[in-house]
Amino acid sequence: MKSKILVVGSINMDLTVTASRFCGAGETVFGNTFSTAQGGKGANQAIQAARLGARVDMLGKVGNDDFGKSVTATISASGVNTQYILVSDTAPTGIADIQIQKNNSGTENRITIVTGANFDITLNDVAFLEEKIREYSMVILQHEIPMEINCRVAEYAAKYNVPVMLNPAPSAKVPSELISCLTYISPNEHEAKDIVGIAPDDESGINNTIKALHNMGVKNVIITLGKEGCAFSDSQTIIRSKSVNMGSVVDPTAAGDSFIGAFCTAVSAGIDYKKALIFANCTAGITVTRKGAGVSLPTLDEVLAAMEQRGIDTKEYKEKL
Ligand code: RIB
Repeated sequence: MKSKILVVGSINMDLTVTASRFCGAGETVFGNTFSTAQGGKGANQAIQAARLGARVDMLGKVGNDDFGKSVTATISASGVNTQYILVSDTAPTGIADIQIQKNNSGTENRITIVTGANFDITLNDVAFLEEKIREYSMVILQHEIPMEINCRVAEYAAKYNVPVMLNPAPSAKVPSELISCLTYISPNEHEAKDIVGIAPDDESGINNTIKALHNMGVKNVIITLGKEGCAFSDSQTIIRSKSVNMGSVVDPTAAGDSFIGAFCTAVSAGIDYKKALIFANCTAGITVTRKGAGVSLPTLDEVLAAMEQRGIDTKEYKEKL
């Protein structure tokens, strides 16, 4: 079964600086490198799914500027259908200011987003999905576009039982009308705490967070736990899936997007949750070994080769993806 995924979400140009230390207020420091590359959680998730073999349509909005043209071309070149990417008359393409700090204690990132055209998407822009949405095997949403757009798209999807994945990033409260339309929610520890008020920082915290999200009406919950991998629950069973070391961490940007794109691709293709989680962890494990967001997302061949090197049976992935 070839999955067809719709991503409604953000498209950014990422402006990335690496440094061994970033400054505090009133300070100036020297950085090491600067680069610009396509980003945006929605676009990254769409690209990851397409590189893993899914058919993907992306709906988003960019500005009428060079950044907008450049990121749309990159998304298209990655195999995503960009027919539904709109151009704002008034707002510039969204940008993300990304600081990558590398020193003896490791590599971490800090991201500041200026939403630009991402927040210019209107209810009118998504109205055509009301019927069309039934063509899709999965819809993926995040928090980098107006919440009312997420609510409306999820409502359309729920009407036709099309599964909806919400990646609630950046962290924000999720309206109850959106929660009730979700098939999957995938917060990290911070986002989960902001939604349910419980920190998933030990086993009982994880279990209570999962229970609280189910009680709010989400069918399946994935809490991503950084180096600890993730915890998945379909309300009957909890599956713990470990992160996979694919090499040293160069840049953690888009690791979560890579995980979501891979998990949704695998599940939409009929792969069971346990194997979909292994696949998603392996995919994200490769992403963190590379610099940048969209450019760091691996292809299916790269993921399968890395899995085989680690002795993971790839037969079913090859058959279904
Ligand atoms: O998840 C990583 C992404 O978050 C970056 O590409 C940046 O654009 C922000 O949206």
